[in-house]
Amino acid sequence: MARGKALITGASSGIGEALARQFAEKGFDLIITARRESRLQDLAEALENGGDLGGDVKVQIVACDLSTTTGMDYLLDAIDPSSIDVLVNNAGVAYPGTFPEQNFEDIASLLSLNITALTRLIHAILPSMIEKGAGRIMNVASVASFQPVPSMSVYAASKAFVLSLTESLSEELKGSGVSTTALCPGITKTDLLENLQGAQIPPFMMSTSKEVAREGYEALMNKEVIRIPGIANQAAVTWAKHQPRWLVRGLGGLAARFKPN
Ligand SMILES: NC(=O)c1ccc[n+]([C@@H]2O[C@H](COP(=O)([O-])OP(=O)(O)OC[C@H]3O[C@@H](n4cnc5c(N)ncnc54)[C@H](OP(=O)(O)O)[C@@H]3O)[C@@H](O)[C@H]2O)c1
Repeated sequence: MARGKALITGASSGIGEALARQFAEKGFDLIITARRESRLQDLAEALENGGDLGGDVKVQIVACDLSTTTGMDYLLDAIDPSSIDVLVNNAGVAYPGTFPEQNFEDIASLLSLNITALTRLIHAILPSMIEKGAGRIMNVASVASFQPVPSMSVYAASKAFVLSLTESLSEELKGSGVSTTALCPGITKTDLLENLQGAQIPPFMMSTSKEVAREGYEALMNKEVIRIPGIANQAAVTWAKHQPRWLVRGLGGLAARFKPN
């Protein structure tokens, strides 16, 4: 028998795909969503046939664009909120560049996906979790949740929202049987990173999606409110927390202005 059902957004690649594999391996049925239907189909086939994981799970696919109201409506029509035991809000985008360089369409769609879709999904699913007295919610934030990031200002601000919401809800939900967890990865080797042109990151500083997903699953099961995968990322966040904000901000600004030849 399945251990429960998990809804995972942004499961067509990167951390979301790794989370889907992780939950399937642990015996969860899945609802996976993203825009690229063929990638979701390939993943569903691999998981349902037990193929590479040896699991035996049921997978429902919902292909839609969560940055639009119609896409969100489509997802909410396709699911039964009361059947969901775990909600993983992972879908997210990042666009590099200074604020005036970014076009407002990109900014608006980032805010719709990283903030509005995540908030709406929690709002739609949380009441039935509270009614059941059980449920777990994971929101994928970032180490960027903890500090401003000049040249990725809107992304960092969106991730600060995700962390703040998760922490507030964790207190509001005390005693309800429902937990909220913010998974705060550092630099992780995924498509999102590839799309940030100019990001020259030495491989040893990067986590893999699988490592991040494993830590996320563990934190969710332990009902931890915040999990920062990797010792180096934890150290960086702790260091920044104990510095004056002007220094952290200024170092971020310097890093943003430094362009390697
Ligand atoms: N990689 C990093 O270094 C890093 C660090 C910290 C936090 N994170 C966070 O981790 C999460 C996953 O990112 P990732 O690194 O795994 O990147 P990724 O491989 O690009 O995955 C992003 C996922 O979101 C989905 N998505 C994007 N736009 C969407 C839309 N409009 N509607 C529905 N789904 C959409 C993508 O699927 P489709 O394109 O098929 O729609 C994809 O499945 C994000 O929230 C990101 O902010 C990443």
